[in-house]
Amino acid sequence: MSVFDEERARNYDAGARTVMAGYEGLHEMARDGLAAYLEPDRPARVLLLGVGTGYEAEHLQQRFPAWQLIGVDPSEPMLNLARRRLTGVELRLGVLDDFADLVELDGVLSVGVLHHLPTREEQPLWIRSIGQRLRPGGVALVGCQVGPYEVDSARLHALRGRWRHSGQGPQEIEEKTRLFLTHTLPPSRDQLDEWYRAAGLSIPETLFSTAYFQLLAAWKP
Ligand SMILES: C[S@@+](CC[C@H](N)C(=O)[O-])C[C@H]1O[C@@H](n2cnc3c(N)ncnc32)[C@H](O)[C@@H]1O
Repeated sequence: MSVFDEERARNYDAGARTVMAGYEGLHEMARDGLAAYLEPDRPARVLLLGVGTGYEAEHLQQRFPAWQLIGVDPSEPMLNLARRRLTGVELRLGVLDDFADLVELDGVLSVGVLHHLPTREEQPLWIRSIGQRLRPGGVALVGCQVGPYEVDSARLHALRGRWRHSGQGPQEIEEKTRLFLTHTLPPSRDQLDEWYRAAGLSIPETLFSTAYFQLLAAWKP
């Protein structure tokens, strides 16, 4: 797992917006996506998996005060910032497998987590866990990188341009590019579709897409 330590947590909110064009738009669309499946004014249990510093929770709470939000995250520094930001959201330190009681959920929102899992093998298992925790009719919104990133693709060039614009130097950009092409291993759309099918979820629809990440919406039949 990439480490979300004190320093990374401290810089996260500003950094996310600088490095990821469309960060706020993706979250806005996530709220619209949840509202497409869940009644905005009726109680619903929604899990924020990888709740981070609590940005998404804060905005969901404002728009859907009737919903019960539960945030899970394995990073204490990220969760501490969420604790400071939020009231009325249940926050838990850990990963999904630590919490057997999180079942029959109406919704799961997880942005920026899939590509932080330590191995490719864990990615389909993680999607399967989400499928198992939803009630029939429940919705999963996942924001993640979708590969492959080809060496000479406009997508990769656009990302490099963004990193340059956000002040990163040539060496840092080369290293990031290398990691993107070799280590990050974002799944392809075909793989994701297969993993969703195996998890008993609908084939996901793309609600939002940038060079960096996509927002996928699926539900449990
Ligand atoms: C890129 S941040 C995204 C935070 C927030 N969702 C957002 O959109 O701003 C990724 C978060 O996922 C958390 N994380 C990493 N592995 C996780 C896992 N297996 N389950 C849940 N959260 C995880 C990290 O600690 C970090 O807070």
